[in-house]
Amino acid sequence: MRSFPFFFRLKGRPCWVAGGGEGARHKASLLLKAGASVTLFGDQLHPSTRQLVQEGQVQWRQQRLQADDLQQLEPAELPWLLIADEDEALNRELAEVCARRRVLFNAVDMPAIGDFFFPSILERGPLSIAIGSDGSAPILVRHMRARLESLLPKRIGELGELVQQFKDAVRERFPNLDRRRRFWDEQMNGPVAEQVLAGRSEQAAKMLQQSLQQATDDMPGEVYLVGAGPGDPDLLTFKALRLMQQADVVMYDRLVSEQILECVRRESERIFVGKGRNIYSITQDNINQALVDYARQGKRVLRLKGGDPFIFGRGGEELERLAEAGISFQVVPGITAASGCASYAGIPLTHRDYAQSVRFITGHRVGGELNLDWKEYVQPGQTLVFYMGLNGLEIICDKLLEYGAAADLPVALVEKGTRIDQRVFVGTLTDLPSRVREAGAEAPTLIIVGQVVRLQDKLAWWNTETKDKSP
Ligand SMILES: C[S@@+](CC[C@H](N)C(=O)[O-])C[C@H]1O[C@@H](n2cnc3c(N)ncnc32)[C@H](O)[C@@H]1O
Repeated sequence: MRSFPFFFRLKGRPCWVAGGGEGARHKASLLLKAGASVTLFGDQLHPSTRQLVQEGQVQWRQQRLQADDLQQLEPAELPWLLIADEDEALNRELAEVCARRRVLFNAVDMPAIGDFFFPSILERGPLSIAIGSDGSAPILVRHMRARLESLLPKRIGELGELVQQFKDAVRERFPNLDRRRRFWDEQMNGPVAEQVLAGRSEQAAKMLQQSLQQATDDMPGEVYLVGAGPGDPDLLTFKALRLMQQADVVMYDRLVSEQILECVRRESERIFVGKGRNIYSITQDNINQALVDYARQGKRVLRLKGGDPFIFGRGGEELERLAEAGISFQVVPGITAASGCASYAGIPLTHRDYAQSVRFITGHRVGGELNLDWKEYVQPGQTLVFYMGLNGLEIICDKLLEYGAAADLPVALVEKGTRIDQRVFVGTLTDLPSRVREAGAEAPTLIIVGQVVRLQDKLAWWNTETKDKSP
């Protein structure tokens, strides 16, 4: 973060704007909206600025503000902010004296000179959204603003007004911050908000009043078992995102990417509970118990897992323990590695011409062995997907050959699927293991076996520069 996005209360504060042009007028109008006491400096005024002066909204000093003018003032006479819409030389002089006198300075359209920037602002009632890029990407800022504009329901401002109306009553009823936050989360995600957005604010206010009267001080804990998908944060579901924003505690796995963690509520407590080869880690039993313990403390616990929690994710075991302890939970499916990697590699898992079924198989070796139903796996017309198979790749290919699969049966290994550094290795049962070894592929990887892999060459679309094209 190169600059910090504050919301600054300007009501009644002296703010100066130097320059009589259009830029100065625009900034003066923004300051006025926040209730600032604005003084304009300039020997001439833009026609629309003149109107502000005539209406008495701003004071005008008919002079060009110079650095010396500021230098000579007593501290109490200095403004809080100075915004200058002057030529670059004067802007620089003003910036220098402002820095000495501790006055925050902004130069219109010259972001490199100032201390602060004006963000792009989106307003909905009491809600203000400010977007900025430190002056470096104004086009992106405009684009984001337009997107947010279309995403935010028009009545969101009315929802803000309702919150304002009940704020004090809720604070009085729930002095405990966690309980209060929980109450508001329930209202914002439930029928009260829906009523407002449907244009029935009065009905919403009645419902909110009723909820407030009926709510108890109890804060039952809950666990959200959420699938985070294979890595690309755009593959999270809306429900996953919503619950990620409500969690008090997050217990996450090794496969949950940094970008996904950034979408979790900032104030939440984060606990890494990853397991993996050669990593000293918390046991599954301890994880199960920790979920129970946190929920019993009244926390909303987000159990965040890579892919889908019910596919090779031990989500079922964790829920069994919660069910036995009488703790309520919700499950949010995620995009499993097989779907994510296949899509991003350009390999359809089924295809009318090549595969009528697909199997998800664990390639995790137990005691160096892979005791699987190999006879079943060499039947034609199916796709095999091996999770956790990188270290067993050689055995997988050898076993399939041993049980009668064709030596030229296509195989793909997708490394870090759906991520920006995804790599796809394509070969046959005979040559893929050595190719993957030579390329030094790293976990997580997924192995896809079957005729569908032939389509990869034609359908690859994601990150194709890093595709392994060697014969
Ligand atoms: C313990 S399993 C968890 C699977 C997860 N629950 C799911 O539905 O994808 C971990 C294995 O998933 C596969 N995997 C997960 N994310 C992956 C990714 N982004 N790229 C390739 N393989 C991935 C790898 O085979 C990895 O060893």
